[in-house]
Amino acid sequence: MTEAILHVCTTCRAGREVREGDATPGALLHAHLRALARAREDARVRVHEAKCLANCAGGCSAAIAMPGKWSYLLGGLDLENASDLLDFAAIYAASLTGVVMPSRRPPALATMVHGRIPALPQLTGHD
Ligand code: FES
Repeated sequence: MTEAILHVCTTCRAGREVREGDATPGALLHAHLRALARAREDARVRVHEAKCLANCAGGCSAAIAMPGKWSYLLGGLDLENASDLLDFAAIYAASLTGVVMPSRRPPALATMVHGRIPALPQLTGHD
């Protein structure tokens, strides 16, 4: 079974003050998502760490991608919608093109899509 890759920004501060040595909201979200994904048998996602996805004003951020599919930049994430995010990742992983229509997204994530990027074309070497 193919898995989606969820890159979670661990440097996101989500507009909060973070004292030196304290975990950022992004790092807490990353750790929580990793633990949740490990515990769920239906998880079709691997959670990776990223440092800044250039969506710093958009709340805690992540990006989801798979070869041959649209990629999504996600924002406004928090610990409370982490489980919904894994549901979204499973729907994304099962989709043919990566497109997950708003009606199929968990309601808590209605405004989380901050951008999307088309899949790379198949390169044949003859273009
Ligand atoms: S610090 Fe997370 S997107 Fe920039």
